Amino acid sequence: MQPKVATDRQGGQTVWYDPALFHTFPPALFDPARLERDGLVTGRSTGRNTAHFFRHAGHEMVLRHYYRGGMVGRINRDLFLRQPVAQSRAMQEYALLDWMRGQGLPVPRPCAARFSPAMGLFYRADLVTQMLPGTRTLADSLHDAPPPEVWAEIGRTIARFHAHDVCHSDLNCRNILLDGAGKVWLIDFDKSARRPDGAWKQGNIDRLERSLRKEAASGPAAAPWDDAGWAALVAGHAQARAA
Ligand SMILES: Nc1ncnc2c1ncn2[C@@H]1O[C@H](COP(=O)(O)OP(=O)(O)O)[C@@H](O)[C@H]1O
Ligand SMILES: [Mg+2]
Repeated sequence: MQPKVATDRQGGQTVWYDPALFHTFPPALFDPARLERDGLVTGRSTGRNTAHFFRHAGHEMVLRHYYRGGMVGRINRDLFLRQPVAQSRAMQEYALLDWMRGQGLPVPRPCAARFSPAMGLFYRADLVTQMLPGTRTLADSLHDAPPPEVWAEIGRTIARFHAHDVCHSDLNCRNILLDGAGKVWLIDFDKSARRPDGAWKQGNIDRLERSLRKEAASGPAAAPWDDAGWAALVAGHAQARAA
């Protein structure tokens, strides 16, 4: 659905939001402290950064602020060099999620995206998506030793994105969610985009493998590397690609 655009003339902020979810745009939406005060926060993810889970108008939603990685991120946590609004981080992710949902790909519904100009040359960015209920990350599921069928389904799901030329720029085991019904979802499409066919598809798989191997090596309590599981994922991906 075409997002509605709200602009705040004074602050220069631009917000895109789904008019089917919000009648008018709720200003508290991007303010974790305010959501907290209003008693709407239902949880937080504990990753490198914090995603805030909250309730709004009968929907469970997830608020994520965009942070910089790497060396630059140590000095400048969340400022990005100014871009046209439609090309900015949150708007790009909103638009890609919206397109993927239209194609029937398993991704969360985008709810709202924000572009906030800062310090002349920069902007900050935030995104709200609909929470995928009853899901856990693949990383968190590893302890239950997912059966080969689940691994194969992950491979097939990645192949569906690849068939739509969607390159996930950070395909790791925390950006893959599994629900109780065996359905696989991909999240976190920051800097992701559609691309012509190429070696990047194998690159996505290689990156996922590295993240899983890292997970398996992350201390005595780590779930061991699952050779058969990984083979099932690779086979599922290859079969779905060939089909
Ligand atoms: N729509 C969603 N539904 C359920 N959980 C989510 C959703 N979006 C994010 N999460 C959880 O929050 C974590 C962080 O979100 P993510 O979008 O990956 O941001 P980042 O990796 O940049 O912190 C995910 O690993 C997942 O556990
Ligand atoms: Mg992530």
